[in-house]
Amino acid sequence: MKVFQHVSDIGDLNVALKEAFEIKNDRFKYQELGRNKTALLIFFNNSLRTRLSTQKAAMNLGMNVIVLDVNQGAWKLETERGVIMDGDKSEHLLEAIPVMGCYCDLIGVRSFATFQNRKDDYEEKILNQFIKYSGKPVFFMESATVHPLQAFADLITIEEYKKKDRPKVVLSWAPHPKALPQAVPNSFAEWMNAADVDFVVTHPHGYELDPQFVGNARVEYDQMKAFEGADFIYAKNWSCPGVTNPDDYGKVLLKDMNWTVDQRHMDVTDNAYFMHCLPVRRNMIVTDDVIEAPTSLVIPEAANREISATVVLKRMLQAL
Ligand code: CP
Repeated sequence: MKVFQHVSDIGDLNVALKEAFEIKNDRFKYQELGRNKTALLIFFNNSLRTRLSTQKAAMNLGMNVIVLDVNQGAWKLETERGVIMDGDKSEHLLEAIPVMGCYCDLIGVRSFATFQNRKDDYEEKILNQFIKYSGKPVFFMESATVHPLQAFADLITIEEYKKKDRPKVVLSWAPHPKALPQAVPNSFAEWMNAADVDFVVTHPHGYELDPQFVGNARVEYDQMKAFEGADFIYAKNWSCPGVTNPDDYGKVLLKDMNWTVDQRHMDVTDNAYFMHCLPVRRNMIVTDDVIEAPTSLVIPEAANREISATVVLKRMLQAL
């Protein structure tokens, strides 16, 4: 695997899940694989889980790890070609990327959507430059449009907790005070469409996800109806994807607190588990009682980030 971006990059999901549980059973099984190999983790944006779980995954595989916070200590980077660099940016990404590639064997990059230009965000302008110019395998640690390490961890969690062969999984929009990217819901939808689940997406009008991710998933605009009989509720806020109106891209169109997942919602499910990628704003996305209930999977889900990252880095090391 040279790039980890989409569910298709991981191949057969049953094989990937088998590998995940093998690693969960013995997370140091492949410790020789990464000897004298270096993972470089580059963060253009903040992180808690991705930073720690990916470092831990690399250490599980015996790798050395370098973490770079681009905005704290590195030169400020210009990303646009043709710009006269007479401002505060001292280095261009087109030199910085191949230099970074010199010091490592694998590169992970986190770079969120800027919301300045839908086309640039959805063309993955930053990450594609890493793929093109680093000369090294690149894995996405949440980009403008996808968060595959999270979606893989979510799939592992659903597989662990499901009580039916084909559970009903509902992705629900929930309110948030600030504009958030669509990366998590995009990847979650992409991975659930590839998994053996009954997948439903619910959100207010105007929040339609990009067709390349939502595919043929059932979209239900009545949140309570969507929740009926569900086995897993995956709550997440996302800003307007701009599918129906490109001018609204990245905007917060509404903050309707009726969409906050509370006990009233959970009562119509089939005793569903609650999921969220974290960080979560309590009593905006989900109420205290729902996230603190025994049916809340937010911590096991976060723990599985180490497992998904270990599988992905293992695959990349094996392909070197
Ligand atoms: N879920 C997730 O990616 O968390 P961080 O933003 O803290 O890495």
